[in-house]
Amino acid sequence: HVRLPTIGELTISSEQGLVLVDSRSGAIAAIVDLASEDEATQAARAHLALLVPAQVTKIRRAQFLMPGFVDGHAHAPQYAFHGTGLDLPLLDWLERYTFPTESKFKDVNYARRIYASAVARHLRYGTTTCAYFGTIHREATEELVRQVRTAGQRAHVGKVSMDRNSPPNYIEPSAEVAAAESALFVSNVLASRAKEEPHGVGVGGKRPALVTPAVIPRFAPSCTPPLMKALGELSRRGDGSGQKLPVHTHLSENASECAWVAEMHPEASCYADVYKRSGLLHERTYFAHCCHCNRTERTLLHEHGAGVVHCAASNFLVGGALCNVRRWLEEGVPVALGTDVSGGWSASMLDAIRQSVITSNLVSRMPDEEQPTRKWKPLSWQETLWLATQGGANVLGLGDVTGGLEPGRQFDALLVDVAPLCGGSFCVFDEDDVLTSLEKFLFTGDDRHIISVYVAGRRVAGASHAAYREHGD
Ligand code: GUN
Ligand code: FE
Repeated sequence: HVRLPTIGELTISSEQGLVLVDSRSGAIAAIVDLASEDEATQAARAHLALLVPAQVTKIRRAQFLMPGFVDGHAHAPQYAFHGTGLDLPLLDWLERYTFPTESKFKDVNYARRIYASAVARHLRYGTTTCAYFGTIHREATEELVRQVRTAGQRAHVGKVSMDRNSPPNYIEPSAEVAAAESALFVSNVLASRAKEEPHGVGVGGKRPALVTPAVIPRFAPSCTPPLMKALGELSRRGDGSGQKLPVHTHLSENASECAWVAEMHPEASCYADVYKRSGLLHERTYFAHCCHCNRTERTLLHEHGAGVVHCAASNFLVGGALCNVRRWLEEGVPVALGTDVSGGWSASMLDAIRQSVITSNLVSRMPDEEQPTRKWKPLSWQETLWLATQGGANVLGLGDVTGGLEPGRQFDALLVDVAPLCGGSFCVFDEDDVLTSLEKFLFTGDDRHIISVYVAGRRVAGASHAAYREHGD
């Protein structure tokens, strides 16, 4: 069993190396330092000689491989209006922009078009694993699963449940129907795995699933207690292998939302307690936002092993509050980063990283209401990168599958080119080492510099402009 890297830990495996990937399992078979002359290197060279050239990708100077990004929270249907409608706070934003758009996904043909485009965009930005919300429509959400599988992305995908406080054309008819549709969605996704996903056994054992079905009560205000209870049971019934199904939802994002939940649920000790009482709070649960969680609520998450998805961009806009990531980490709660398309305007995890760094700098300079004398240390770029990769994988329960490049784990990776490209937005200099190049990429790079995106060893996306082929080795 490999030891997973911890927050802030950043290892350069090799500056002149060889990554061997097993195409049967999608896993990394070995990472060999070619500068060394030991037995493993000799064996790897011999192995390399047996490969046909088409199976070998050479990495040039000014290029590097890094783990693919994990986006812990994105709404695939909201890609239809991403970058627009960011002028309203959460509850008005939902009513004015979000529900009318999501209601259109009743039409599977419309869904197919938007979903194909959304998945392609997330992948091209280097998100190798994404936790997607669909809509209340089961068939359209099954279409999202199909698009994810066709594109070759790794994902959690869930049908959204809503049976109260929603417009007449975007609400499920009853708790029973909503729960039954979610159960059917889960069983259909599990049943279609064998037919629609590649499988094989090799290094690391059996190739892991690409798509995991998730249980999604949109948020407490949208779901009656009987529906939440049924969804809690569905998640606990699991996937047939003894594992609970992931629960993915929103928590304590916005002040008006929190006040509304408190008014609706006087019996609960806090917002998270509403989910707990329905059986929805467990070790496979992760919550987007979590900006307003007080000590009681934070303790509840910690006690149940739940995770937090920090969505910095949308917190600045529709949410209107900051999330103190350092406090969550210090209190032992796992944290992922999310784009929250389209409460967040960008599908790029590079933007999520930048917005998270800005947030943590702000938090470090503002007085803390709970602990007035406490100063918070901002997140370093290395810590933030970890949250966007290994941290996200951990929150999704995929920590030993993806999130880092080590033998036995899946080859979910980005090939980045930091040479000055035509139209590229940043420059590295000869004196810049690989760490500096990586840091520059995180803050000034974009999808033009991600020339290949690999999931389970397969190249599934990447910029393919001529510019990078022209500058020699
Ligand atoms: N809370 C309930 N629904 C949503 C949504 O679609 N986006 C965000 N950011 N918060 C929500
Ligand atoms: Fe959201």
